[in-house]
Amino acid sequence: MEIYLDNSATTKPYPEVVDKMVVALTNQYGNPSAIYKKGIEVEREIKEIRRNIARSLGAKETEIYFTSGGTECNNTIIRSVANLNKKTKKHIISTCIEHPSVLNTLKDLEEQGFEVTYLPVDSQGKISIDDLKNAIKDDTFLVSTMHVNNEIGAIQPIEEIGKYLKALKQKVYFHVDAVQSYAKIKFRPSKYNIDFMSVSGHKLHGPKGIGFMYVKENNRIKPLLTGGGQEIGVRSGTENVPGIYGLGKAVEILNQDLQGTIDKIKSLRDLLKKEIVENIDNVKINSPEDGVCHVLNVSFRGVKGEVLLHYLEQKEIYVSTGSACSSKKKGSHVLNAIGLSAEEIEGAIRFSLSDLNTEEEIREVVKALKESVSDLRMIIGRRR
Ligand SMILES: Cc1ncc(COP(=O)(O)O)c(C=O)c1O
Repeated sequence: MEIYLDNSATTKPYPEVVDKMVVALTNQYGNPSAIYKKGIEVEREIKEIRRNIARSLGAKETEIYFTSGGTECNNTIIRSVANLNKKTKKHIISTCIEHPSVLNTLKDLEEQGFEVTYLPVDSQGKISIDDLKNAIKDDTFLVSTMHVNNEIGAIQPIEEIGKYLKALKQKVYFHVDAVQSYAKIKFRPSKYNIDFMSVSGHKLHGPKGIGFMYVKENNRIKPLLTGGGQEIGVRSGTENVPGIYGLGKAVEILNQDLQGTIDKIKSLRDLLKKEIVENIDNVKINSPEDGVCHVLNVSFRGVKGEVLLHYLEQKEIYVSTGSACSSKKKGSHVLNAIGLSAEEIEGAIRFSLSDLNTEEEIREVVKALKESVSDLRMIIGRRR
């Protein structure tokens, strides 16, 4: 029996998502820009999906733009705001635990002459509002932060950040990377004074290669891709219709009972944490107590996380040592930033859950973990 606990990396599409995508690939293959029936039916369906997504955020449909996913959203938004402000302003504030799609975009902007302050985080992975206040300069034009961290599940105080930025005399745009929080935390961007937001389809049981940006009314976007003017000129290129259909179906399913889904995932995460702590000694829980429902990061001291991952893989249990994007590199920048020791970083495993997991799976995983960690510690002990 396969047990998939790497849902922060990607999720398994719901069967209904696949069925809906098949419709776009078989009957409804028309180009939504076409002016005959076969195009118009697709255009109508996309409009309905856009409206549904907007409704899930208490937003307007004109504030939602489809993209190829989280990386494109983050690039488009950050580069656009930088471009539109570069004549008079140079300073951006972000955090040191962002996803590479933000960090590498900011690095590129630094090479172009922008200045970036990377706020530190505490042992719980949170920034301090005082640090943010102290970092603001006359020429600060953007604060870009993730809502939920993909490696440890820490939740940033975006409500407080939004409030603070709104009260400032100067305009500082607020971008939130919500890839790990949309459909995991209920919130409305307008309530938090968010100007721009990034969401990815494959993190919520939708397909890969699709996502959407929230762009608050009256905020401008300078497009990354120019061309035929699709998405009101914000994102040219023929729409990824199967992707949009799949994402739309995933959002529809998730919003039928979002609180119920969140509660289910959280209780599975709590069970996993409790069982690990009770059954395996010398572990450290790296995820904060008040973290997001679906992520649990744990260090198994004296064990190499990567070896443990492959032990579990042999039992068809899939977990991660860090984020999928950085798993080939050494030493997670997030675990470093929260102050873990080298041994704790090396022994870290990220379990990330979804509503498709079951209690039985969690018990199976803990049993496998107990055996594997014990075997590995014995082997290492013998070598010493
Ligand atoms: C916080 C965060 N932002 C952005 C991304 C990138 O999203 P995508 O894979 O859709 O490009 C990810 C994916 O891991 C993520 O976790």
